[in-house]
Amino acid sequence: MFDYKAAFSRSVEQVRSEGRYRVFADLKRVRGQFPLAVRRREDGTQQDVVIWCSNDYLGMGQHDAVLAAMHEEIDAVGAGAGGTRNISGTTRSAVDLEAELADWHQKEAALLFTSGYVGNEATLSTLQKILPGLIVFSDSLNHASMIAGIRNGGGERHVFRHNDLAHLEALLAAAPAEAPKLIAFESVYSMDGDIADLAGTIALARKYGAMTYLDEVHAVGLYGATGAGVAERDGVLGQIDIIECTLGKAIGVMGGYIAADAVIVDAVRSWASGFIFTTSLPPALTAGALASVRHLKSHPELREKHQERAATLKARFAAAGIPVMESESHIVPVHVGNPIHCKMISDMLLDDYGVYVQPINYPTVPKGTERLRFTPSPNHTDEMMDHLVQAMDALFAHCNVARRPAAA
Ligand SMILES: Cc1ncc(COP(=O)(O)O)c(C=O)c1O
Repeated sequence: MFDYKAAFSRSVEQVRSEGRYRVFADLKRVRGQFPLAVRRREDGTQQDVVIWCSNDYLGMGQHDAVLAAMHEEIDAVGAGAGGTRNISGTTRSAVDLEAELADWHQKEAALLFTSGYVGNEATLSTLQKILPGLIVFSDSLNHASMIAGIRNGGGERHVFRHNDLAHLEALLAAAPAEAPKLIAFESVYSMDGDIADLAGTIALARKYGAMTYLDEVHAVGLYGATGAGVAERDGVLGQIDIIECTLGKAIGVMGGYIAADAVIVDAVRSWASGFIFTTSLPPALTAGALASVRHLKSHPELREKHQERAATLKARFAAAGIPVMESESHIVPVHVGNPIHCKMISDMLLDDYGVYVQPINYPTVPKGTERLRFTPSPNHTDEMMDHLVQAMDALFAHCNVARRPAAA
């Protein structure tokens, strides 16, 4: 008979042999002390650590206003949403949150999903059902959830080289003029920290009659006067057809959404399996996200501090000859270029220095570009940076990893 266990073991072994096996650090965050956490080691002992790779970019997951709203909502209405949106999951705070999100992105409507992943998968696959013959043009570095949605839609798709508008234009020009088309891309790419040319992409979409679909997962809350993302910063909110985001990163809670014209949102709401057939977000999450968005809208100083911290860390690394990669955003990637060294430095940072940062290895990034990805928040202090830079300096020397000449 078939040996199921052996087959599962082989599949895990394959991951291990490719150096992709993941071990999760056991971390307990300390309320009110973000980015501090307590790590439980395998032997049961504990260690204080500073988290340097959280996507809770602004620490909103610990913000008093968010926690108070969540506590209040649990006390008022209980735990779960009670089912799908259609059956009993349309709770008041979900409706209010959708209105707030639509307003934030200057769109007519918004629609919640249980995660950003689900939002991308459900929307992109459904657009191909709604628009038969839709041709999708997808940036080569798009997130796995976008790729899953585009593939699951089953229609024609073309991948353009990352942020390469000339390549995108060549592909658009080669497609039939009358066919419906969609350009799917991200604003901030989270592994390199580079930012797409939104205005240039919109211009091409106009020229070739395409719709635009923008994932602002790593930008919402962080860019633009009210934090609505790079589209707001670049003054093009009204020109992007569909904006997709998460509630789980800068907003600090969990969930995902799209914002678009009411008719687009209504069509996706009516056809998307990943929206229709799943229990909706619990009220505490939507209430917490609502409080977070309201706070973010009116606190630009958080965004300023966030950018300042990222710029300071980049400068500190560069001055120490640590090969910080070029990044236009709040993401601070440091090139290591070897998966074993990358994992080793990450392990030693944690064990010996109480610094938690995950190694980013293939297949998340191409081989030879393995890196450590730091995401300093407004709560990371100068002292924490001193400690981090000293630790990196010592470990790059220890592992003999190539450096950049120190800045003059
Ligand atoms: C670009 C991008 N889009 C979508 C997602 C999925 O969002 P969520 O974590 O809410 O599922 C992620 C990462 O998590 C992402 O990096």
